[in-house]
Amino acid sequence: MPVQIILGAQWGDEGKGKIVDHLSEHADIVARYQGGANAGHTVVLPPSKGKPEKEYVLHLIPSGIFHPHVICVIGNGVVLDPVALMAEIKQLKDAGIKIAGRLLISHNAHLIMPYHKMIDAARERGEEKIGTTGRGIGPAYNDKYMRTGIRVVDLLNRDVLCKKLKRNIEANNELLNKLYNSQSLDVDEIIHEYQEFDRKLDEYITDTSEYLNTALRQKKRVLAEGAQGALLDVDHGTYPFVTSSNPTSGGACTGLGIPPTSIQSIVGVVKAYSTRVGNGPFPTELNNEIGERLRKTGGEYGATTGRPRRCGWLDAVSLRYSIRVNGIQKIAITKLDVLDEFEEIKICTNFKLSGKKLTHYPTDAQTLEAVEPVYQTLKGWQTNISDIRSYGKLPKEAKTYIEAMSTMLDTKIWMVSVGARRDQTLILR
Ligand code: GDP
Ligand code: IMO
Ligand code: MG
Repeated sequence: MPVQIILGAQWGDEGKGKIVDHLSEHADIVARYQGGANAGHTVVLPPSKGKPEKEYVLHLIPSGIFHPHVICVIGNGVVLDPVALMAEIKQLKDAGIKIAGRLLISHNAHLIMPYHKMIDAARERGEEKIGTTGRGIGPAYNDKYMRTGIRVVDLLNRDVLCKKLKRNIEANNELLNKLYNSQSLDVDEIIHEYQEFDRKLDEYITDTSEYLNTALRQKKRVLAEGAQGALLDVDHGTYPFVTSSNPTSGGACTGLGIPPTSIQSIVGVVKAYSTRVGNGPFPTELNNEIGERLRKTGGEYGATTGRPRRCGWLDAVSLRYSIRVNGIQKIAITKLDVLDEFEEIKICTNFKLSGKKLTHYPTDAQTLEAVEPVYQTLKGWQTNISDIRSYGKLPKEAKTYIEAMSTMLDTKIWMVSVGARRDQTLILR
């Protein structure tokens, strides 16, 4: 049964949106399985019918939406902000993209509430700040695991919705009072706002697990689109500097209600260098003019929050760990063109700790903070590759870089992206 998982192998923003959009041409369904509107997935459509190229940033709707034959699913593992979703639906409809009949939302997905965003923001003002996106993600998953969350299905039963909302707002008002100096939420106002969502979202809500399993029996091709990245995974990432869900491949099964036996392949999207937004260890970070150059050339500013992304060289040690945890079988390299002008390019091959080579990947933040990267230096190609469309035509130094990556990671390179547009993609056979 053919499910292909496309996930970020680093700290997010690897270019998942671009790769998923590209692969959607040959898919029937694209499904998001975790995270929420903390994601910012960019898709750049090439110029067509006299219209210039156009960039879209998606936060909740899967990146298959630009292919009219694709059905997009928001799975049960997602935390859904209905306010953000309505804005996204409107933006796409205004651009002439058909949504009706093409978007399905799991009845079991949890809802993000205004108090989740307020608690997220307040925590970020304190000492335990981790640099979240402020989208209420942690507090919403907290309610889910505390078993007090409100789910999409609750929107369809006003009595249940009112009861749960009242209970949660009253419970949170105590906390918000403390965090925001006696500012409380208006229960009636929120109930009114959220009651309206049943009417607005009703047509999309369904049992998406049943839908997907039926589709799989019919041999439909499904792409599972990860948000964030493996190193931000709440279990396997650089805890506590992580998000609150499982972007790793296992999350696709629980987040969509599909069996592990349905997974056919796992693709890791890997940026040709490293970036990270928010706090937490980043062994290859470059706090110098090279890091600045990567940020400028790569346009490394958050697609959701606009924050400058921290930049550094490719980290093969973290990637080997990511490949192991996810079972990544093939890699899509993105943003190789960003390295076009560099005289030399480095890859971190190993970590040292107190002068000694590390043999395992440290996942505790303190050790990872203390490691020293060991680099291999490769020659740059110093030529523009963004118009190249076949692997054979890449400059020899670029091929050497890709092959070095494949060897170090012991994994096949499947795709190479040389620009943000859908067509700027090379497939390796
Ligand atoms: P995502 O969250 O993994 O989908 O990635 P983002 O959309 O947050 O960030 C990736 C950025 O790089 C976006 O601005 C993309 O348009 C852009 N991008 C993707 N692939 C390439 C590429 O191969 N080359 C260049 N120059 N930009 C790319
Ligand atoms: P996409 O899908 C990059 C980071 C935040 C912060 C940490 C926790 O576009 O790759 P959260 O708001 O989730 O509680 O923040 O995770 N983060 C991302 N970084 N890309 C993302 O998504 C991210 N989503 C969350 O910066 O460090
Ligand atoms: Mg992003």
